[in-house]
Amino acid sequence: MNVCRTTGLTVEQQERWPFLYSHLSSEIEIPSLNDMDEQFIIEMDKEISRILKHVGDGKAKSRESLTRHLKGLLQRRFQRNAKVEAFGSSVTGLSLGTGDLDLCLSFKKEQPKKVLRKVAGLLREEGMMDIQQIPRAKIPIVKFNDSRSGLDVDISIENRLAIHNSKMLKGYAQDKRVREFILMIKYWASRRGINTAYEGTLSSYAWTLMSIQHLQMTNPPVAPNRQSGNKPNLVEINGESYDISNDSSPFESENKQSLASLLITFFDRFATRWDWNEMVVSIRNGGPLNAEKKRWTHTGPLPLEVVTGQSKNRMEHVMPIEDPFDHEHDLSRIVKAEGAMTIQEEFMRALHLLSEGKSWKEICTPVMEIDEEPEDFFHDLRTQNIDLLRQSLDEMKTEVTQVEEHIQSLVTERQNSKELLDLLRGTLQETRNVKSNRQSILAELRPLSMKVQELRQTRDGINDRIAIPTKRIRQEMVRMFDSLTAEVDVFNTQNLGKEKGDFSYFFELQAMYKASIESNEAHQEFIRLRREQNKEYKALKKTNSKEEDVLNRLIEKNPELKGINLHPKTVKEFQQNANKLQKSINIQYSKKHELRREIGRIEAWIRIAASKGKQRPKRDSKPRTARRQAPAVNINEVRERASTGGSFSLNELDALLSKGGISGIESKEKASTSNQSDRRKAGRKKSTYRVDPRQGRKRGKKQSRK
Ligand code: CTP
Ligand code: MG
Repeated sequence: MNVCRTTGLTVEQQERWPFLYSHLSSEIEIPSLNDMDEQFIIEMDKEISRILKHVGDGKAKSRESLTRHLKGLLQRRFQRNAKVEAFGSSVTGLSLGTGDLDLCLSFKKEQPKKVLRKVAGLLREEGMMDIQQIPRAKIPIVKFNDSRSGLDVDISIENRLAIHNSKMLKGYAQDKRVREFILMIKYWASRRGINTAYEGTLSSYAWTLMSIQHLQMTNPPVAPNRQSGNKPNLVEINGESYDISNDSSPFESENKQSLASLLITFFDRFATRWDWNEMVVSIRNGGPLNAEKKRWTHTGPLPLEVVTGQSKNRMEHVMPIEDPFDHEHDLSRIVKAEGAMTIQEEFMRALHLLSEGKSWKEICTPVMEIDEEPEDFFHDLRTQNIDLLRQSLDEMKTEVTQVEEHIQSLVTERQNSKELLDLLRGTLQETRNVKSNRQSILAELRPLSMKVQELRQTRDGINDRIAIPTKRIRQEMVRMFDSLTAEVDVFNTQNLGKEKGDFSYFFELQAMYKASIESNEAHQEFIRLRREQNKEYKALKKTNSKEEDVLNRLIEKNPELKGINLHPKTVKEFQQNANKLQKSINIQYSKKHELRREIGRIEAWIRIAASKGKQRPKRDSKPRTARRQAPAVNINEVRERASTGGSFSLNELDALLSKGGISGIESKEKASTSNQSDRRKAGRKKSTYRVDPRQGRKRGKKQSRK
């Protein structure tokens, strides 16, 4: 294996973290973002505002209706003891539209046992997909996907602090610039694949806190410290006390920096200036805390040492970020060595690309293929005939009606199936009492029958050996006793052999007598137990007929139950059937949504095309009144004027667009931008900063860490 001698990174790792690797092996210096070109910042701001138009919670309605649906569902399941609240980006206003839906399930009274399993079961019944339970986390979570809306949902249990911190984030996000700045950092982190806590990078929440910290530290600050007030508001959660006070009043910043300029300084700060070994991100402090004072200094190996296999020990406080309310919670707790390397690589990459004058879009190029809306929403419709489009529109509308009918029939079928299922469950519940009665009878009958069997064997065993009845044995014993104890006739004495025989016969009789008594006792006990057994059998029979009575009564009331085998297995089968139906319903809903979306898009295009007069509807057989002919356009002259910033009429603009004339202008613009970028490159200073400390630090001043 080809391993770098300086860093210990393999070729594969060098390719995975190229910028970081170059710095670690001292091949390139870290660029400075101090002297960014003004024009570049203007362009970047324009680009950001274009991106901001596309991001945002396009699924806000779906989130709301799914939240409502789940709320109802969980409250029905937990008899109104449950409380369901949304938190995270759907309430903070910091959603890119790609995030998950975060819900908190808490209980007004006692928390039911095995709550996670119950929630998961309920979601399964609802046809939710990819259900995962994470029961052992500090906050237990059920994760799943709602295939109807496509939303990923996290339901966490008793996550009270998250509700409070979301409220505070909402306060921060009320400022447009703060909100848009955080959105852009989340956008970058999400597209670069470094916002996935469970994969060992930072959560969106952590990136939000870092963004706020940056905005608090600009001069003058763009964001306030909302926790600097001195009136504590203490809440108790799981026996711990937290101060959740925060000031949500509007904040007027004197800082006039644009988003682009703030983003540039963000990268400059966190890629080069932030010493993760000494500084803790702390928005409740409004600036970094000293790691040593907080006792959060990094312990354990450096990420580089872990990824190169030099150490397997645990890293602590690798990029310390303090939770604003839970001050003992370091959000970098979940960062793995590889995640830390990737985060640092991304900081380095952003720094380099910015210094090279690359666009924000390029900096945010997704690391994985994502389904992006094409920039030209109508690109595939532009060349199509309007009449044909109208025709397919009609077909799609018919299809929507068919899908709706299909959904309706599936929904009815599922409803019936669910009703029957509820009925079955109720019936089983009603017969459960009778059944449990029977179970207890059976539980008593089993040992009783064994005892009866045992007694029978004892009795018969003895009787097989001793054929003579007890009475006869006793008489014989008396006779023998008398004979053996009679006065001795000295003239007629028995011989010794006979006397010995009599004695042993007497002893034999004694033993027989004892066994016979035992047999009698066993017989008496046997008789008694048999009577008891009979009683129990009668009771058992009674429960059978009682169960039949209950069933007959239920069937009389609900004839649908007739012919159905009332067994838990049947309930399971019905359950599976209902789940299957729900899945089909979800599929049909997605189909309907897709069709609706496409219909909307085509209709919009037809409207645009008609208003532009690009393609006049040809379907009408009625001749239209002739339009005044637009004056002829000299396209070369218009192009020339457009490229030099001159004005032109709508007619000329249309001609320019339809002749692809914009590309000519664009290529000119590109040439001028690249000149600017070249100029910038030529004039760029090399920085004296070193690569961050944490991920890439080579042995030096602070390397004595053990
Ligand atoms: N949260 C928390 N502690 C964490 C992670 C998250 O308290 N370690 C809470 C915060 O209230 C946060 C919410 O969970 O607002 C959602 O976290 P996350 O999904 O990471 O952030 P979002 O802003 O919802 O991001 P996205 O839009 O990507 O879902
Ligand atoms: Mg979220």
